Amino acid sequence: MFSPKTKRSSLMSRLRLVGLSFGSKSDSWVFKDKKKVNSVYLSSVAKLVPVVEELAMLDILCLNNSETSMASNRDLLEQKHIRDFTLMSKKHVKKEEIEDKVVWITGASRGIGEKLAIQFARLGAKLILSARNEAELERVRKQLVGKHAPDEVKILPLDLASGEDLLKVAVEKAESFFPGAGVDYMIHNAAYERPKSTALEVTEESLKATFNVNVLGTISLTRLLAPFMLKRGRGHFVVMSSAAGKTPAPGQAVYSASKYALNGYFHTLRSEFYQKGIKVTVVCPGPIETSNGSGATVSEKKASSEKRVPSERCVELTIIAASHGLKEVWISYQPVLAVMYLVQYMPSVGYWLMDKIGGKRVEAAAKKGNTYSLSLLFGKNKAA
Ligand SMILES: NC(=O)c1ccc[n+]([C@@H]2O[C@H](COP(=O)([O-])OP(=O)(O)OC[C@H]3O[C@@H](n4cnc5c(N)ncnc54)[C@H](OP(=O)(O)O)[C@@H]3O)[C@@H](O)[C@H]2O)c1
Repeated sequence: MFSPKTKRSSLMSRLRLVGLSFGSKSDSWVFKDKKKVNSVYLSSVAKLVPVVEELAMLDILCLNNSETSMASNRDLLEQKHIRDFTLMSKKHVKKEEIEDKVVWITGASRGIGEKLAIQFARLGAKLILSARNEAELERVRKQLVGKHAPDEVKILPLDLASGEDLLKVAVEKAESFFPGAGVDYMIHNAAYERPKSTALEVTEESLKATFNVNVLGTISLTRLLAPFMLKRGRGHFVVMSSAAGKTPAPGQAVYSASKYALNGYFHTLRSEFYQKGIKVTVVCPGPIETSNGSGATVSEKKASSEKRVPSERCVELTIIAASHGLKEVWISYQPVLAVMYLVQYMPSVGYWLMDKIGGKRVEAAAKKGNTYSLSLLFGKNKAA
């Protein structure tokens, strides 16, 4: 049997999975000098998913995020298994890294971006809000509360697909909004996502629309803004990527490709300019519950029974990650988090798993069913 919880928690930060064997009589973990998991023995391959879930659930001691107190006790219990090991080690936001800083958020007119605006405002940031819909940005601005909100909050409408000339104007405006202070944090949150379809059904129009917003626009904005940051010797890009940028995402090939592209660009950017003061935090959420937009609506969620992390919690963890300068973090319920670990650390097994469920996931999406259910792997092809 798996080790008791007390042992697990003491292993939390040092855990390494070294070996995996199938076909043993019973399932067990073997510990090397009581600190590292040396081997995992499993009676069958089917036991793998629960074990990876166990490995990814060693965050029981790290739940108490009292600083921003966004979650009730019930929520905390529900949300204990939703982040990767790096993020687990950081419990609170570093408020001093956020207060009085200029934070520019794209995609701030709804969904996760709206929640980012609310929490950054509360932490005392000076905000610039962008998206195409100015009226929605105004609506978001009016509800903000904080040291510099709502009165000092700037609205900067922009279309990420509008080309470099217009994006340049936007960057110059953003840099001049707050006298003596340029943009400290650029939160690249805006994105375009189409309903799920197979990789071959994607139209040229959808391909271009996705890449123009998610990749080209986002990279252009970065290229235009980074020189200002470099002149000051500091600047931080926070990139709302996705689990779909870390693992195959059947039904979302183009969206997934756009997020992989972002991960590649931003990790490289950081490696080139880190020593000159440029930080990058890549955030990879799994399914997130938002009231609208690319996440499921509340009614869709009820209909499909997909379990999604509340956007408030996703944003809270994102800001904790950014304030600690973490380089990449994953935020998701299981089984997505476990699949992310598999694909990252045991790619052959991870890709085998995805190949097994890919077709069924596309079918489930077409029936508006649960596209994150373990039943996609273990037979019962439930639509919801
Ligand atoms: N929700 C999820 O389950 C989930 C999971 C993983 C990752 N993510 C990522 O998290 C981020 C936010 O997701 P979300 O669910 O909150 O998205 P959402 O509700 O669809 O909101 C997208 C935002 O992007 C803006 N936007 C879209 N096209 C734009 C353009 N051409 N120029 C400028 N702004 C544009 C939209 O505003 P306008 O329409 O007013 O322009 C809106 O504010 C995205 O990067 C998404 O990929 C979401």
